[in-house]
Amino acid sequence: MARFGVILPAAGSSTRMTGFQKKKPFLDLKGRPIWVRTAEHFLSRNDVCQTILAVAPDDLDWFRETYRPNLAFMDIQIVAGGATRADSVRNAMQQLRSDAEYIAVHDAARPLLATRWIDEIFTAAEKYKAAIPGLRISSTVKRVTADGRISETVDRTGLVQAQTPQVFERRVLEKAWSICRNPAAATDEASMVEASGHPVQVIDGWPMNIKITTAEDFRLAELFVGALPRPASLGGLHPFGDELFR
Ligand code: CTP
Ligand code: MG
Repeated sequence: MARFGVILPAAGSSTRMTGFQKKKPFLDLKGRPIWVRTAEHFLSRNDVCQTILAVAPDDLDWFRETYRPNLAFMDIQIVAGGATRADSVRNAMQQLRSDAEYIAVHDAARPLLATRWIDEIFTAAEKYKAAIPGLRISSTVKRVTADGRISETVDRTGLVQAQTPQVFERRVLEKAWSICRNPAAATDEASMVEASGHPVQVIDGWPMNIKITTAEDFRLAELFVGALPRPASLGGLHPFGDELFR
């Protein structure tokens, strides 16, 4: 079985999330902190050998103190994040154990995952060595000027919104890092791998896998939590059910 090291960047400053007391990974989403919800999807997997969460250096003491009860029961490593998302990911990559053959990077601010979605992207990563989920764009796409006027309608053929988890064979991502000229400008890992010349496969993403960016996203997330697919359990199946999975 391939072994995956999981990196969860949670060290941003949540500037677009106004009106909340805490930074978004630490907000309570229907009873559990967002970062806990995100981490749990990976901690429960047999193919994940290590999970690393990057927290802003200024928050580290507060984080360890506040979440001591959670951390006592979670096999998770905490590292100091950096000024950019790429720095946070790099700090975590430096702590990866030698048995992690693949690296999965997933925004801590995307807690709305399902086991079967992680199965899909991990399988794609093993097949293609570099894979990300992408959500096809269904609306007409416009380019707009700074003062709000449409300058053009952009052909949406082949356009997708990149999501995470973004998963790479370890040497593919490490090589991309080693030759990347401006990591700070990369808003995701795939862009570095693309720039390195290695092809990156896109699989269909999942509309509920939103990145909580604004207060409105948070309210959507509260609704989506109850709508996520769950693995079929024998107790949940009945002979007249339409679906094996809900
Ligand atoms: N992130 C990080 N280190 C940074 C910046 C971002 O670990 N220096 C993390 C965030 O915590 C988040 C993920 O990367 O889980 C995606 O980033 P984003 O949604 O942009 O979060 P923030 O940077 O915190 O938000 P904003 O851009 O609105 O300030
Ligand atoms: Mg940001």
